[in-house]
Amino acid sequence: MKVLTILVLLFGTGMFVFSSSSSWSNALAQEGRKPKDEYVLGPYAKLGGVKFSHVDHVTKNRSVDGTKPIACVECHHTAQPASEAAKHPPHKTAWPADRTTTLTLDLLEKDPSAPPVNVCGDCHARAGMKPKLLPELPKIQLEGSAEPVTLDNQQAFHRNCSGCHDEVAKTGRASTGPTSKKCVACHKKTAAA
Ligand code: HEC
Ligand code: HEC
Ligand code: HEC
Ligand code: HEC
Repeated sequence: MKVLTILVLLFGTGMFVFSSSSSWSNALAQEGRKPKDEYVLGPYAKLGGVKFSHVDHVTKNRSVDGTKPIACVECHHTAQPASEAAKHPPHKTAWPADRTTTLTLDLLEKDPSAPPVNVCGDCHARAGMKPKLLPELPKIQLEGSAEPVTLDNQQAFHRNCSGCHDEVAKTGRASTGPTSKKCVACHKKTAAA
C-alpha cells in the first residue's frame, strides 16, 4: 500500500514538471518548428478524439520491423525533396514544392531556414472541406480500383496510422498499436480534451 502511494506521488510530480515545460513546446509547435509530445487528433470526430504520443512514435523502435524509430517522412511525407518522395509511390508531392531538405529533428533545431512542418490537416482536410494549402483534397489512384481515393483526414490518417499497425500485426509481434478494425482503441470520447 505504502509503495503504491509513493509511486502515485512520484508520478504526480513528474506530470507537474512535464506540463509546465510543455506550454513552451506548445508555442513552438504552433509555428511548426517543434513537435508536442502528445496530440489529441480530431477532437471533433463522432467516435471521439485520438490520443497520439508523438514522442513515443519518434523515439521508441516503432518501425514495422521493430528495429528502429519511424522516420519523420514516413508520416510527414511532403517534408522531403520531390525526388525522394517519388521513390515511394504514390508519393510525389513536396512542400514547399522546391524544398531541398529532408525533415529530421536535427534539421529543425539547427537550420532556421528549414521549412516549418505543416500539419496533415492543412492538406488532408475533413470530407467536404477545402484544404488550406491545396486547391482540393489530394487523390490517389490505386491499382485495381476504378475510382481514385480522395484523401480526406479520415483516409489519410487511417492509411498512415492503422495501416502501419496492421503491418506490424502481420509480423506477429504482440504489441502492435490499434489495428484498423479497433476503432475505439484510438477514438475515445474522453480524449477530446
Ligand atoms: C507516426 C507519424 C509521425 C512521425 C513518425 C512524426 N510525426 Fe510529427 N506529427 C505527426 C502528427 C500526426 C502531428 C500533428 C498534426 C496535427 O496536429 O494535426 C505532428 C506534428 C509535428 C510538428 C508540429 C507541427 C505544427 O505546426 O503543429 C512538428 C514540428 C513535427 N511533427 C516534427 C516531426 C519530426 C521532426 C519528426 C521526426 C523526428 C516527426 N515529426 C515524426 C505525425 C508524425
Ligand atoms: C502539403 C500537403 C500535404 C501534407 C502537409 C500532408 N499530405 Fe499526405 N498527401 C498529400 C498529397 C498531395 C498526396 C497524394 C500523393 C502525392 O502527391 O504525394 C498525399 C498522400 C497521402 C497518403 C496516401 C499514400 C498511401 O500510400 O496511401 C497518406 C496515407 C497521407 N498522405 C498521410 C498524411 C499524413 C499522416 C500527414 C501528416 C503527418 C500528411 N499526409 C501530410 C499532401 C499532403
Ligand atoms: C510506421 C509505424 C507506425 C505508424 C505510422 C503509426 N504507429 Fe502507432 N504504433 C506503432 C507501434 C509499433 C505501436 C506499438 C508500440 C508498443 O506498444 O510496443 C504503436 C502504438 C500506438 C498506440 C497505442 C498507445 C501508444 O502510443 O503506445 C496508439 C494510440 C497509436 N499507435 C496511434 C497512432 C496514430 C494516431 C498514428 C498516426 C498519426 C500512428 N499511431 C502511426 C507504429 C506506428
Ligand atoms: C490508429 C488509430 C485509429 C483507428 C484504429 C481508427 N481511427 Fe478513425 N481516425 C483516426 C485519426 C487520427 C483521425 C483523423 C483525426 C484528424 O482529423 O486529425 C480519424 C478520423 C476518423 C473519422 C473522421 C472524423 C471527422 O469528423 O472528421 C471517422 C468518421 C473515423 N475516423 C472513424 C473510424 C472508424 C469507424 C474506425 C474503425 C473502423 C476508425 N476510425 C479507426 C485514428 C484512428
